[in-house]
Amino acid sequence: MKNIVVLVSGGGTNLQALIDAQNSGLIENGKITCVISSNPNAYALTRAKDNDIDSAVISRKDFDDFNEYDKALTQLLKDKNADLVVLAGFLTILGHEVISAFENRIINIHPALIPSFCGEGFYGLKVHEAALKKGVKLSGATAHFVTEECDGGPIILQKAVEVKNGDTPEVLQKRIMEQAEWKILPRAVSLFCQDKIQVIDNHAVISE
Ligand code: GAR
Repeated sequence: MKNIVVLVSGGGTNLQALIDAQNSGLIENGKITCVISSNPNAYALTRAKDNDIDSAVISRKDFDDFNEYDKALTQLLKDKNADLVVLAGFLTILGHEVISAFENRIINIHPALIPSFCGEGFYGLKVHEAALKKGVKLSGATAHFVTEECDGGPIILQKAVEVKNGDTPEVLQKRIMEQAEWKILPRAVSLFCQDKIQVIDNHAVISE
């Protein structure tokens, strides 16, 4: 059974989707054992508490130096015996130490079809604002492994979602969460926990 540690910063609806999937038996061979938040006031922490999941807070601004923060987060994940780290709306960039300690063991959910609308500065509503500004007819979500290239790691799963006339960033965000993020993130986590994802030449190859 793999220990899943989920990193959050905000509302935690993707964390909730993982908890719901776990409660329905959809996460095979994995268990969410800890939630770590960058923000002490994140509602995601309430979701963890309500589901009897251990939690911790680690905030970038509590460290003078980024390397110290990077080291402390790496140690915390090791102390929690993480086999898999999931970034579910975690808005602090990860450093070299943590990414190399958990190579191909960190999964991020991004609210667009990578390589569109991704990279530094593209997070939360900003992603949907950019998609609407461009006038794309399809957007969606991507679950991918985290490498040192922001949003550039091997793509595990993607799902497209229609953009409709009159969409606001908030409306599009909600549709993408409901139709794509909350579905592909638990699926990617379950595939990982069953050792069904292999990374070959920077490509995630799934064996069903
Ligand atoms: C989600 O839409 C997630 O894809 C996005 O933040 C939101 C968090 O919502 N992540 C990024 O933009 C990362 N670049 P949640 O806290 O309700 O899961």
